[in-house]
Amino acid sequence: MYVQWSKELETGVPFVDSDHKILINLLNQANDCIHQNEETFILGSVLDALTEYTDFHFRREEKMMAMSGYTALDAHRASHADLSGQVSSIYRDFQANPAAIHAEDVRDFLNSWLIGHIKGDDFAYRDLCVGHAAAHAAHAVSFLGDADTPRLDWSDIRIMLVDDNPNFRKLVQTILKAIGVRHLELVDSCDKAAALLAKRPADVVLCDWVMEGMPGEEFVAYVDRMELPSRVIMLTGYSKAVLRERVRGLKVFDYVEKPVRARELLETIARAALTVRLD
Ligand SMILES: [Fe+2]
Repeated sequence: MYVQWSKELETGVPFVDSDHKILINLLNQANDCIHQNEETFILGSVLDALTEYTDFHFRREEKMMAMSGYTALDAHRASHADLSGQVSSIYRDFQANPAAIHAEDVRDFLNSWLIGHIKGDDFAYRDLCVGHAAAHAAHAVSFLGDADTPRLDWSDIRIMLVDDNPNFRKLVQTILKAIGVRHLELVDSCDKAAALLAKRPADVVLCDWVMEGMPGEEFVAYVDRMELPSRVIMLTGYSKAVLRERVRGLKVFDYVEKPVRARELLETIARAALTVRLD
């Protein structure tokens, strides 16, 4: 069961439509992981990205409505608060006990809420907001916020993701595209990653720890030996502490635990990319 984006869902406000496409992608990814390998890792990562991205989307949509003087703002805000609350509570329940939350339920809940909200509440501001200066101003709101994260041109960073789970690759791709990454290479093994990096360098390599073929530590050693400029961030189902111990002495830039938290992932990539720029 896929939700297909169609003209019928278009509000005509470019950032709103692109945000909605991302939310629909995440919804479809909740669907993809049902009964699949590593369902818990993927679903946890999807839930985190959803929580973060809905909050971000609502923040900028509300800014647009407020700036344009939309009269039904309070009711729309209440509807957003309702969804945010429900998504956060599903995520909290998942964190307490992953087995209690089923991907099907997440998908069905989001499907009915999101599509209903777009066609109802969001369509109601179309006449006022399409082409309004407030829509441009709201578009500029940044996902990570400007205060704690230095501004990066995400479209400029070359990222490689090495992971053998196609659902995880799709999820990370959604998160990275949402923030504006344009140069992204998806690879399913360290062997392929090593061969590709020799030809096309990447600034940041996100690498799953446990995969068939060349193991993570050998890959990190290879990047170091070849003096490649890439920063390697390890993704792992182990705790960071365990991993740090295992790769002592190897040049790993940092570790991100699975299920990934979208914000932590992006902030880690941002830090890594900035050090590459400083070299
Ligand atoms: Fe909305």
